[in-house]
Amino acid sequence: MDQKQSDALVFFGATGDLAYKQIFPALQRLAKRGRLHGPVIGVAKAGWTLDQLKARAKDSVEKHGGADPEGLPVLLEKLRYVDGDYNDSATFAQVRKELGEAKCPLHYLAIPPSLFGKVIDQLRDSGCASGARIVVEKPFGHDLESARALTAEIHRVFGEENIFRIDHYLGKNSVQNVIFFRFANLFLEPIWNRQYVESVQITMAESFGIQGRGAFYDGVGAIRDVVQNHLMQVVSNIAMEPPPNPDVEALRDERVKVLKSVQTLDKDHLVLGQFEGYQNEPGVKPGSKVETFAAMRLHINSWRWRDVPFFIRTGKLLPVTATEVIARLRQTPPVFSEDLPPQNYVRFRLGPVPLIAIGGSVKEAGDRLRGCMVELEAEQECGTDNLLPYEELLDDAMRGNPAWFAREDYVEEAWRIFDTVLKDRPEVHPYRPGTWGPEAADGLTKDFGGWSNPK
Ligand code: BG6
Repeated sequence: MDQKQSDALVFFGATGDLAYKQIFPALQRLAKRGRLHGPVIGVAKAGWTLDQLKARAKDSVEKHGGADPEGLPVLLEKLRYVDGDYNDSATFAQVRKELGEAKCPLHYLAIPPSLFGKVIDQLRDSGCASGARIVVEKPFGHDLESARALTAEIHRVFGEENIFRIDHYLGKNSVQNVIFFRFANLFLEPIWNRQYVESVQITMAESFGIQGRGAFYDGVGAIRDVVQNHLMQVVSNIAMEPPPNPDVEALRDERVKVLKSVQTLDKDHLVLGQFEGYQNEPGVKPGSKVETFAAMRLHINSWRWRDVPFFIRTGKLLPVTATEVIARLRQTPPVFSEDLPPQNYVRFRLGPVPLIAIGGSVKEAGDRLRGCMVELEAEQECGTDNLLPYEELLDDAMRGNPAWFAREDYVEEAWRIFDTVLKDRPEVHPYRPGTWGPEAADGLTKDFGGWSNPK
């Protein structure tokens, strides 16, 4: 593994939404921890000046966690700005100039994928790609074929070892912890398989809508926006086998193997929905059939998981904002009576406030041997070094550590699972904002105790 430290960070899309909401707050934290080496060069075509970009950075951190008296001045001091068209070689000549002595810059493309090819060629032609690494935002392509084409396009200039396909879910401590908790706790691993687990549900519910991102969202929809990437990362962590050694690639291999054993999604196992009012959102095409809700049943044909359904659900404008995994364990026999005790479960709440809970059955007060459900609940966080997902991932990319980034084969397998239903989509059902999506989704889980709705 290449362990060189990047000595400059160039981020394309510096005046955009992602930079405002996520990147500046992460950069401020990295600046505070002394993890930014060399200049931080924002690039965009906005007609801005460096002072305007600095004002934007300041505003961004104030609105997202607060300005840090140590971190912010360091970041502002490192910040440079190049304004220009991505088609214009002068823009890249200017980037090259700002890079100065840097030998191993990290280029972060927080821009629409349609511009990737152009920017990559310009990076090569201007000499900015030499010794460099590249970070590419999700969704990586829009189906299997385009993901392959995009990789081929990037490979013309950057080797696979220098490509970092970012997915901020993999930078979340709660998502990484699914792996740690499974393998570090002897009480869990022996039952984490088809003998004991009856079904697994993953719900990523958001109580907000598309937040003015209509033009972007209408081109992707829920499957491409969060299922193919964020939620499949969660599936991989829940279902993977322990890697044979601590090597980074061994971990990545195991995560890919899970996807390889997931059956291509069947149209009959997918329910799509669109919230009422979506069509009136700015940027949404009239008559759009894009889904803001998706619920599905996946099959993992591995030895460990065969015949255990994995139900996945996500949606905008649902009753709460929460991402949760629930593994329901099989029913025990009744305890010396006619009544079946409630089924055990293991619950990982991945956000917004992570926790882990185990659902158990205790005897109800009174003279009958009947069970009540109780939860043993633990806050997941321990330690004080809480890194923001983009803070951890950008730091990793600048150190050349690919552990929490999607490899070429991983991304392709993830698209392969959805490729058929993306081309031949089921009907899209309307649902009322503030509900748990269209009723048709209930049919998926009806033989497995119904959906567990996060509270
Ligand atoms: C983004 C999606 O990648 O992830 C958004 O584009 C979604 O639509 C967001 O809301 C959710 O991320 P988090 O970290 O808030 O759960």
